[in-house]
Amino acid sequence: MSEQNILAFVSIKGGVGKTTLALETASSLVNDFGKRVLLVDANFSAPNIGLYLDLTNDVTLHDALNGTGLHNAIYESHGIDVIPASMDHNSEIDIFKLKKVLDKYKSRYDFIILDSSPHFEELKPVIAAADKVFLVTSPDKVTLTTTLKAAEIAKKQETPIEGIIVNKIRSPKHEYDLFEVEEISQIPVVAKIRDDKRIARAAHKKSPITYSDPRNQISREIKNMASSICGNSEELTFMQKLLLKDLVQKEVVNRDLLRQKFYQSQL
Ligand SMILES: Nc1ncnc2c1ncn2[C@@H]1O[C@H](COP(=O)(O)OP(=O)(O)O)[C@@H](O)[C@H]1O
Ligand SMILES: [Mg+2]
Repeated sequence: MSEQNILAFVSIKGGVGKTTLALETASSLVNDFGKRVLLVDANFSAPNIGLYLDLTNDVTLHDALNGTGLHNAIYESHGIDVIPASMDHNSEIDIFKLKKVLDKYKSRYDFIILDSSPHFEELKPVIAAADKVFLVTSPDKVTLTTTLKAAEIAKKQETPIEGIIVNKIRSPKHEYDLFEVEEISQIPVVAKIRDDKRIARAAHKKSPITYSDPRNQISREIKNMASSICGNSEELTFMQKLLLKDLVQKEVVNRDLLRQKFYQSQL
């Protein structure tokens, strides 16, 4: 496996779906593609992964950054190795140690997925630790504009941005469409997910939707993105194949590029 396997899900806005997409992508990579995945909650001040998965977190990323062996902070959930963070850690930690701590684990996993904080200062060490970044945004003007600030940090730190995930799509009339998102951001859209109560339900049940309901449309979209991350070709349903004959464009999402890049990095 390539050494370019640390992927961060970032934005500079809370509530856009970073944690949800980091968790669901990790779950799909494990459960749909049999990959070994370490999911790390690198939201240092307001971590959520432990809550999403109902983990007890006696030992956390904070302890690992303070010298405790990282292996003590790994918990298994839905086939994923998860490192939660602490919500009430008192002592000072050096969050810029993240890269050093994770680099030792790169060879043990196919992918290390990082969830992140929307706060500028906490985001920097996450982008520094990542080999590749996925931006998460909703398609409204304010959120996209804010999300592009995260893109600026990544560009400054020379961490490649692999794509933008458009989440919580609601009303096409009052939001950017995917072409506009690409035009404004100059970043390929690699997944589109509508605002859907099934995601809220999955969070409430503390089970990833890609795990508990893998056949629904949202799970399939995440699976297709995960497939591209693995360098596989798109899986199309029978109906999609039929429809494709009439469609000029295959999809408005740009996963071919993503797939090629990941494929190249694995050669
Ligand atoms: N596509 C979606 N449709 C409906 N609810 C969503 C969607 N994506 C995320 N959510 C919900 O929005 C809230 C915030 O999501 P979260 O992933 O925690 O955002 P962030 O990590 O960016 O702060 C959660 O309650 C989550 O279940
Ligand atoms: Mg979050």
